[in-house]
Amino acid sequence: MKHIDIKKLYTDPAYVGQMVTVCGWVRTSRDSKNVAFLELNDGTSLKHLQIVLDKERMPEVSAFMPIGTSLKVEGTLVASERNGVEVNATAVTVLGACPGEYPLQKKRHTLEFLRTIPHLRVRTNTFNAIFRVRSVMADAIHRYFQQRDYVYVNTPLITASDCEGAGEMFKVTTIGYSEDYKSAEDYYANDFFGKRAGLSVSGQLEGEMAAMAFGKIYTFGPSFRAENSNTPRHVAEFWHVEPEVAFAELPDIIEIAQEMIKYIIADVMEKCPEELAFFEKFFEAGLRDKLRSVVDNDFEVLDYTDAIAILEKADVDFKYPVSWGCDLQTEHERYITEQVFKKPVFVTNYPKDIKSFYMKQNPDGKTVAATDLLVPGVGEIIGCSEREADLDKLLSAMQERGMNLEDYGDYIDLRRFGSVPHSGFGLGFERIIMYVTGTANIRDVQLFPRTVGSIR
Ligand code: 4AD
Ligand code: MG
Repeated sequence: MKHIDIKKLYTDPAYVGQMVTVCGWVRTSRDSKNVAFLELNDGTSLKHLQIVLDKERMPEVSAFMPIGTSLKVEGTLVASERNGVEVNATAVTVLGACPGEYPLQKKRHTLEFLRTIPHLRVRTNTFNAIFRVRSVMADAIHRYFQQRDYVYVNTPLITASDCEGAGEMFKVTTIGYSEDYKSAEDYYANDFFGKRAGLSVSGQLEGEMAAMAFGKIYTFGPSFRAENSNTPRHVAEFWHVEPEVAFAELPDIIEIAQEMIKYIIADVMEKCPEELAFFEKFFEAGLRDKLRSVVDNDFEVLDYTDAIAILEKADVDFKYPVSWGCDLQTEHERYITEQVFKKPVFVTNYPKDIKSFYMKQNPDGKTVAATDLLVPGVGEIIGCSEREADLDKLLSAMQERGMNLEDYGDYIDLRRFGSVPHSGFGLGFERIIMYVTGTANIRDVQLFPRTVGSIR
C-alpha cells in the first residue's frame, strides 16, 4: 500500500502543501459540529499526526472515531502552529474496525496492567519508545565491534556443556523420562543427541575458541537461565553480548567494556532525544544528566576487598550480612553504586570460591581476575574476567568443583595448543536497556518476557 511514514512528514519540509497518504491507528479522536479531529500513529514516530476532517465534505465520520481503528488517510499536509504539521483529509478508508472493548483506551495504564496484554501494549507510547531505543542500541553494539574489526560469531544455543556451572540450564530433550531406563546415563544415551543437552547460559566457551583463531570476536544472541528467581532483573531468556579478546588482560578488557558502554549511550543520546525526554518525564527524573555524566566521566574501579570494607563500615541494616568471602547481594551493589559512588563501578578481584571455574587465579591464591560492572538502579549489568590460560590451574579449578572434564575436552584443548592470555565479558542487553531508559522492571524491555511460572 503506497503511503508515507508519519515520521517523514515531521522531518521533511518538502511534504508541506503536498497530497499525502498515511496509514496508522487512531490514538485519540474528537468530534464536533463542523469538524472532527483524529490523532493517528503508525509507529514510526512518538508524535501522532493530527488529521482534520471537514464534516461538510465528509459528513459520516463515526466509523473513523473509535480508538484503535486502523485507517488509510489521503489529504493535504499543511503547516500547523500547534502541531508542526497536520493533514486536511480528503478521503479516509477504514482498514480494520476496533470495537469499544479494545483495552487501550484514553487513560494512562499502569505497567502492571500492560504486562497482561503483551500483544497490545507495544502500541503505547511507552513501548514505542523502549523498543525504538532497544533497536538503536542493538545497532550501536554491532557498530562498536564492527568498526574495531571484531568478528561477529554465532555460538550454539543447544549445548552439552554448562558455562556457568550453576545448574541453571534448561534441558533439551525429545523423550520423556520413564522407569524403563536403567539409569540417567541410559536415558540420556537414548535421547536425541545421545547425551545430556541443554539451552546455553552463555556463548563464552565457544567464543573463547573463536577468539583463539580470530583474535577478537563478539556474540550477540539469546542466553537461557532456569533461575528460580522472580526479581525485576531476571528473565529466563535474555539477550547477551559477549566479546572475547585474545592477548587482553583484566585492565584491557575493563577499558574495552567502559568504552563500549559509553559508545552505546552516546549513540542513544544522539539518535533518540525524544524517547529519552519521554523516559525522563515518566520514568526517571534527571535521566539525561545521568547519561551525559556516564559518557563524560570515568567509571570507578573498586577492589572487592575494599568494597567489603565500605559495606562493613556502612550505617545500614543490610538484610544479608557482609564479610569477606560473601557474594554481593543487590542491596550491597546498590549501596555501592547509588549511595557511595553514584556512578558505574567495576568491582574487581572477587574471592575465587564465589566465581566460575574459568576465571584467572590471582597470585594471592584467594581471588580471581574478574569484575562485575554495577550501575545505579539496576545493579550488575556486566560479568567479566580474564580467563585462566594455564592448563594445570584450569584443571584444578574444575576438579575442585567436581566438574566432568570429558564434557569440556575442547575447552581444555585451548590451554594445550598455543594458550594465550585472554579476557571477555557478558553484557545483559536488557539490563543496559533498563539503565538507559530508567525502566524499573526487566519485563518491560522485552516483547514477551519469559519468567518463572509465566510464558505466553
Ligand atoms: O555474569 P554472567 O552469568 O556471566 C556470564 O555468563 C559469562 N559467561 C559472560 C562472559 O564472560 N562472556 O552473565 C552476564 C550478564 C550479567 O551481568 C547480566 O547482565 C546478564 O548477563 N544476565 C541476565 N540478564 C537477565 N536475566 C538473567 N536471568 C540474567 N543472567 C545474567
Ligand atoms: Mg554475573
